[in-house]
Amino acid sequence: METQYFQVDRHKPDKEILTQAARILVSGGLVAFPTETVYGLGANGLEPQAVAGIFRAKGRPSDNPLILHIAEASEVLQLVRTIPANARALMERYWPGPLTLVLERKPIVPDQVTGGLDTVAVRLPDSVIARELIRLTGLPIAAPSANLSGRPSPTTAEAVAADLSGRIEAIVDGGPCDVGVESTIIDCTTPVPTLLRPGGITLEMLMDTLGEVEIDPALSRDDLIPKAPGMKYRHYAPSAPMVLLEGEEVNVAAALIEKVRQAVLEGKRVGAVVSAETAALLPTEIQFAVYGHRRNAGEIANHLYNVLLSFDHNPVDVIYAEGISESGLGLAVMNRLRKAAGYKILQV
Ligand code: TXA
Ligand code: MG
Repeated sequence: METQYFQVDRHKPDKEILTQAARILVSGGLVAFPTETVYGLGANGLEPQAVAGIFRAKGRPSDNPLILHIAEASEVLQLVRTIPANARALMERYWPGPLTLVLERKPIVPDQVTGGLDTVAVRLPDSVIARELIRLTGLPIAAPSANLSGRPSPTTAEAVAADLSGRIEAIVDGGPCDVGVESTIIDCTTPVPTLLRPGGITLEMLMDTLGEVEIDPALSRDDLIPKAPGMKYRHYAPSAPMVLLEGEEVNVAAALIEKVRQAVLEGKRVGAVVSAETAALLPTEIQFAVYGHRRNAGEIANHLYNVLLSFDHNPVDVIYAEGISESGLGLAVMNRLRKAAGYKILQV
């Protein structure tokens, strides 16, 4: 199949162009589009055949449910049975934005979307392009990240094309995404809401509204089954094996430099995923990718997937990654780095 490309302005997208993209979605096709987090691969979320196309194009396991994206908060009522008070408080505060709520689903939501669960994940994105496109379809749009299953989520149209060109009907190019990691997922069907995936809305922000938040224990342990089925897969993985160093800032930097030196001496081609501060101290012969400044988790989140993808073009034997503090967006960054490393973690 030949993939069509549409270019639009991120703040003032051309309505004619988005209408063409919306028509493709309404007629059952697949369209990748930018959101404020990462690019999504959209399909008509009420049409099982269209949804099945997403799983085919991505090579995604069918037990991994999808998020339904809506254009207005009121549209959630069509999809879920009840909205508990704490879910309503989160919607009022953080929608539109990078927050996905898991709620009890209504029968209108196809099993293909929920992977057979009795809950559904819903999100109101903040991106003008995403909301306008969804609004023009008049439908809830099912949209996972627009990558091949297991690869890093795309934050540019080029990264979408590298994975999905020829496999989907169209790509809407609206430039790079703002946040760079996926939305936060919170399950609001439990008495105390449970964080299933850290993301663009931080744990501190959730606590500020809710007072208390459970954290799915599987987020920090490799041996438990996560409540968000997709979190069990080794995602975001670069092609080379990666080791993540965690601990105090200065110890991490020192240990990383030592590890890199050793590996170079062993004749390995070495890659490093590091802060600007640590990069300045590395031997010059290694392939390093800088994710930003150590204390600026927002900047790091924004660059993270591109940094991981950069090793596709520069093959190495091993990658060492520098861990950061888990405060703010750091929690989402560290969650993605741990998964990218396949939980090969060195505490220093
Ligand atoms: O930022 C985002 O959320 C992006 C953009 C495109 O909106 N989308 C995204 O979708 O990251 P995806 O499919 O890559 O990740 C969705 C996650 C998966 O881990 C899935 O298992 C989980 O959401 N999920 C979906 N429905 C669920 C449900 N009913 N209960 C628990 N987890 C659910
Ligand atoms: Mg994904």
